[in-house]
Amino acid sequence: MSANVVAIDGPAGSGKSTVAKAVATELGWSFLDTGAMYRAVTVAAYRYGVDLSDGDAMGLLARTVEIETLPRVAINGDDIEEEIRSAATNVGVSVVAATRKVREALVDRQREWAERQPEGTVVEGRDITTVVFPDARLKVFLTASLEERARRRNEEGEDSIARRDAADASRVVSPLRQAEDAIVIDTTGRSVEDVVKEIVECLKSHTSN
Ligand code: CDP
Repeated sequence: MSANVVAIDGPAGSGKSTVAKAVATELGWSFLDTGAMYRAVTVAAYRYGVDLSDGDAMGLLARTVEIETLPRVAINGDDIEEEIRSAATNVGVSVVAATRKVREALVDRQREWAERQPEGTVVEGRDITTVVFPDARLKVFLTASLEERARRRNEEGEDSIARRDAADASRVVSPLRQAEDAIVIDTTGRSVEDVVKEIVECLKSHTSN
């Protein structure tokens, strides 16, 4: 019954979304950006006036708000594609992502979603290899130097990225860490095509073993 999943984790700007999307296209599988879900819940809290520090209310919001991530991020039918990248969202999302009840709600939704994918799915985030799909067919941890990650995210800035990294790595619930059996790929100076090729080849060799 376990879903066919390639799980990809890594810090901000490590290339997760771009690489995960391209791997999904290559395999003919679907793709899920779980960071967009945490960002969507953050924007929903701002819009509907839910206090980010109220864990119960935030958990309920995360369970009930309608979230679409593709083709554009939307909550309850409202397009929030631009808002999810705002400076305010970058700050709030670290608090939201550290809230246990929010994580429980979103992890449930991510697993249910994966079960519904007919072929398979590529899922990326911070806890996908360690918590959400520890039995994924392939687990990948993407990294890149802070300099390069900040260059890829030029609108956000190195300080904000470093702050989010520190918050993700140090939180009590589901901190960002490398799964022991993940393949680690440093994407610094490497092309997307090259990284995608490595992942697809790894998947094939894992599957044939
Ligand atoms: O923009 P970037 O790729 O850095 O981040 P994102 O994937 O959009 O995720 C935004 C934030 O959501 C991260 O900084 C994490 O705090 C949180 N997140 C998480 O805690 N767990 C996930 N599975 C995905 C994202």
